[in-house]
Amino acid sequence: MGGGAADVAALMVGRDRELSRVTRLFDDALAGQGRLVLCTGESGIGKTRLGEELTAAAAARGVPVAWARAADRDSSPPYGLWRPVLDEPAIRGDAWGGSRPDLWSHVFGDAARPVLAESADAGSAHRFALFAEVRRRLAEAAGPAGLLLVFDDLQWADEASAALLTDLVRQLHGTRMLVFASYRASPGAGDETLLRLSAEANADRVDLHGLTAQAIEELLRAAGLPAHADQVDKVHAETDGNPFLVRELARMLVEQRRHGPGSVPGRVVDATAYRLAQVSEPAQALLRTAAVAGNSFSAGVVARMLGVPVLRLLGPLDECRAAGFVVAGDHPGDYRFSHALVRSAVAAGLSAEEQRRLHTAGADAIEALYEGRLRLHLADVARHRVEASLATCPVHRRPQPRLAAGPSGGVTGSGWPAPPW
Ligand SMILES: Nc1ncnc2c1ncn2[C@@H]1O[C@H](COP(=O)(O)OP(=O)(O)OP(=O)(O)O)[C@@H](O)[C@H]1O
Ligand SMILES: [Mg+2]
Repeated sequence: MGGGAADVAALMVGRDRELSRVTRLFDDALAGQGRLVLCTGESGIGKTRLGEELTAAAAARGVPVAWARAADRDSSPPYGLWRPVLDEPAIRGDAWGGSRPDLWSHVFGDAARPVLAESADAGSAHRFALFAEVRRRLAEAAGPAGLLLVFDDLQWADEASAALLTDLVRQLHGTRMLVFASYRASPGAGDETLLRLSAEANADRVDLHGLTAQAIEELLRAAGLPAHADQVDKVHAETDGNPFLVRELARMLVEQRRHGPGSVPGRVVDATAYRLAQVSEPAQALLRTAAVAGNSFSAGVVARMLGVPVLRLLGPLDECRAAGFVVAGDHPGDYRFSHALVRSAVAAGLSAEEQRRLHTAGADAIEALYEGRLRLHLADVARHRVEASLATCPVHRRPQPRLAAGPSGGVTGSGWPAPPW
């Protein structure tokens, strides 16, 4: 075993079942049973990676591939997702020596005034005809050797692109095309596009979940870590088997073996800061406060820490669940972070002063809420008091990487933004 960094990066673990299912569907498609594979799961779970593995399988079979990635729903022009697909030589028409008109300009007009976008607004028969033309060209391109279309991050596709995709999927049967679309969604969440596509008869879902302990062990060993049972359990508990988090934690553990202890992997702090910046300010304030309350937390305690009625937390809590940060706990009103490591990353973004203030608020909230029956909660109170004093003591203060996305901008002293409430 070589064990070099490149080997570790190339290693794919724990996805044999998913990979063989997707490969089987691909082979079925090549035999004329065209299909859509919708791959869903949270950020970092391995959707893009599965698309890459499928792309490698296509290359090995000599099947042309077109790959498109949605970026930002608001900045994409109508049908923007389709541009790289329709520009692909195998689809565009160059394959016939340039004698055919470019499919994009034929169907969409010039980029500034897309014919299809205009006619779509009018809901005209023109749109129907153009969709049919795209389908015809794709089916034709798939004829000789099959065709793999990969749409990554479909959750960000513009509406027009999603409509064209849905139209294609409805008529995939009988073509030699496999459409693989990745869609970031927490379990149970997802918007209309996902539901609409999932309901299509030609669609299969591959919902990715966390890696097993055995797969984690394999990754840790490949990274050169001893991977004894305790360590595997700890990594499993911190990451819930999310491959991105496992990889980053493994990288940090390797660094620690070389250079001594660290806290949270820098890339996880950055990725978390990015995700945090995508949710509303009330949801951000909630997550920062909950990160101090603990990996499992009670909405009542967090509301008290923030100084707001618990009912006001319901909206932000729903948002945090939909964004995959938290899941419901075992009892009503209890929640926990989906990944302990992400909680640590949120906490790592707080300044020492914010930590001190929130730990003090945490201790006060528990004392007030459980007055008269505090015994069960004394350990939590003590933990908050100790952490509050450590946060202010320069000797014990841990280095605190700041979250990139201006964490306290617009947040009042209570950690709760003044507007919009
Ligand atoms: N089964 C696996 N074994 C090893 N590494 C994996 C596995 N799945 C994913 N990875 C690695 O984990 C990281 C995250 O995976 P990937 O980018 O595919 O996630 P994603 O689901 O597409 O996330 P996002 O929604 O943020 O785009 C990548 O470095 C990828 O190579
Ligand atoms: Mg991805």
